[in-house]
Amino acid sequence: MLPTRVVVNGALGRVGQEVVRAVLADPVLRLVGAVEAVAPQPFFPAPGTPDLVPFSSNLGDLLEKVCPHVIVDFTRAQVSMDACRIALPMGISMVIGSTGFSEGNLTEISGLCDAHKATAIIAPNFSLAAVVLMHLAKIASKYFDNAEIIEMHHDKKLDAPSGTAMATAKLMAEARGSSFVYPPTEKEVLAGARGGEVSGIGIHSVRMPGIMACQEVIFGCQGQTLVLRHDSTSRESYMPGVLLAVKEATKRPGFVFGLDRLLGL
Ligand SMILES: NC(=O)c1ccc[n+]([C@@H]2O[C@H](COP(=O)([O-])OP(=O)(O)OC[C@H]3O[C@@H](n4cnc5c(N)ncnc54)[C@H](O)[C@@H]3O)[C@@H](O)[C@H]2O)c1
Repeated sequence: MLPTRVVVNGALGRVGQEVVRAVLADPVLRLVGAVEAVAPQPFFPAPGTPDLVPFSSNLGDLLEKVCPHVIVDFTRAQVSMDACRIALPMGISMVIGSTGFSEGNLTEISGLCDAHKATAIIAPNFSLAAVVLMHLAKIASKYFDNAEIIEMHHDKKLDAPSGTAMATAKLMAEARGSSFVYPPTEKEVLAGARGGEVSGIGIHSVRMPGIMACQEVIFGCQGQTLVLRHDSTSRESYMPGVLLAVKEATKRPGFVFGLDRLLGL
């Protein structure tokens, strides 16, 4: 079987560098190109491979040259949108980890897939553990009246709470069919001590160097608690999900949103 030809957009980014390593290490994938905002030399410094991998800041030109099957894109939403507008009409599949898409962006990508019988897989979270935790939290939500979420991330994270915490709370409330019970505090001694609150679920954000990404969901009812927790210790945690998406992208046309869909959850 011929290897799947992969281009990485944002190849020098924090996640992009992990994607490059993961693609190079996978026997059924071949890194055929790398794209960055600035590409100072014609070949990408790909670690541990004798292949010369074309490197460019112009995605369209590179695609014409290297004809990939799939582009993996961890850049930012507007850059990924431009990539979709170029690649999907060429029948090249997109696997996208960038976050921050609007509803309008997603509708446009879905339309491009339909119009060109192309594939786009977007996952706001490529961590298998995080996605499985969300699924388990949905199941548990039917059996408990109280729930709180503690999410912990590195100190460089821009937003709080995390998108995953907000999405988890939304899924939990939907699965339960109503808000959770949020016990009121008569006297809040320190403002913010109870964290934020969504659908009766308290949400607490910790920001600290030394942590990558962690989420804990605590459920409670009379005399018992259930704690679901995942820890991502490095950006490698996204790679099993990314590689799964790259391999699925060559098999199924259309628009897929969420790693849970690929996992059959
Ligand atoms: N889905 C997930 O599981 C997941 C996980 C982590 C991060 N993310 C998201 O992935 C994105 C990247 O995260 P990161 O931490 O790697 O950020 P980063 O800033 O380290 O990397 C982004 C890279 O994109 C490059 N870039 C910018 N404009 C470009 C352009 N026009 N063409 C090509 N490359 C361009 C930048 O130079 C940079 O190297 C963010 O949107 C982040 O929120 C998603």
